[in-house]
Amino acid sequence: MMAMQRRALGWRRQEIRVGLVPTMGYLHEGHLSLIKRARRWVGAQGQVVVSIYVNPTQFGPDEDFTRYPRDLRRDKSMCLEAGVDVVFAPKDGAMYRQEVGLGHSTYVVEEALSKGLEGEARPTHFRGVTTVVAKLFNLVWPDVAVFGTKDYQQALVIRRMARDLNFAVRVLVVPTRRERDGLAMSSRNAYLNASEREQALVLWQAIEEARRTVRSSRWSIPAVRLIRELTWLIETRPAARVDYIAFFDPETMQPVERVRAGVQMALAVQVGKTRLIDNGRV
Ligand code: PAJ
Repeated sequence: MMAMQRRALGWRRQEIRVGLVPTMGYLHEGHLSLIKRARRWVGAQGQVVVSIYVNPTQFGPDEDFTRYPRDLRRDKSMCLEAGVDVVFAPKDGAMYRQEVGLGHSTYVVEEALSKGLEGEARPTHFRGVTTVVAKLFNLVWPDVAVFGTKDYQQALVIRRMARDLNFAVRVLVVPTRRERDGLAMSSRNAYLNASEREQALVLWQAIEEARRTVRSSRWSIPAVRLIRELTWLIETRPAARVDYIAFFDPETMQPVERVRAGVQMALAVQVGKTRLIDNGRV
């Protein structure tokens, strides 16, 4: 049994409440608002665990796993300051055994909500996410686990996994923290140069534009038309290329043909070499 699991077992026996915030590190204020939510839920007597692990199984072969930003020392001091009780930062070998023939060969796969959008653009991504989150649930045995709306589809997939597999974990989802100009905070924003940082604002502008259009119209608007107009808006920025823009039911993730208030929007945009995602309710 890993040391983390032994500790978690102790908490369970003493009926101490445990809140888990899974992250890949390079923490920012978005992560801190998840930590605050966990603390509020478990109370001063509870234990807040932040996991920091750049999970290799959720990155595709051509993605940014090796260059994903890492700064464990800074992350640890941010956690300390935020009143986190335990920073769980396992080494790669501890999460996925490497030995030939004894390597990791079991995965958790959600087969409905994870199919579209990010799942389509990054085919093995959610398998990696659900597998590592299931492992973290089994290592930390949290009462609650906190995720961000920033990764809207991820939050739905994890909530579904927890229900389907009977994890005794309450999944909480916290609103997206944004920079002053509206850009969603993300560890990947560190990749952007000054010009790209400026152009990256177009994701938020597209969400706002969709809202304005939908709310100022008396009728619902065909999704294809809105997608065409927003793609045009985004791609006026020279470094920006749309990967997808989608309008869907906020719970089932089924795409809608016509967009009205209450529909969920999500988009992925390549800005230079950096792929950014954002979402919002229109
Ligand atoms: P990471 O990108 O580090 O994000 C960790 C958590 O922080 C996720 O739940 C994410 O939705 C949330 N988050 C990120 N940016 C946010 C923002 N601007 N406002 C609020 N919350 C934000 O998501 C992952 O890591 C991984 O896939 C993980 C779940 C840890 C599994 O490896």
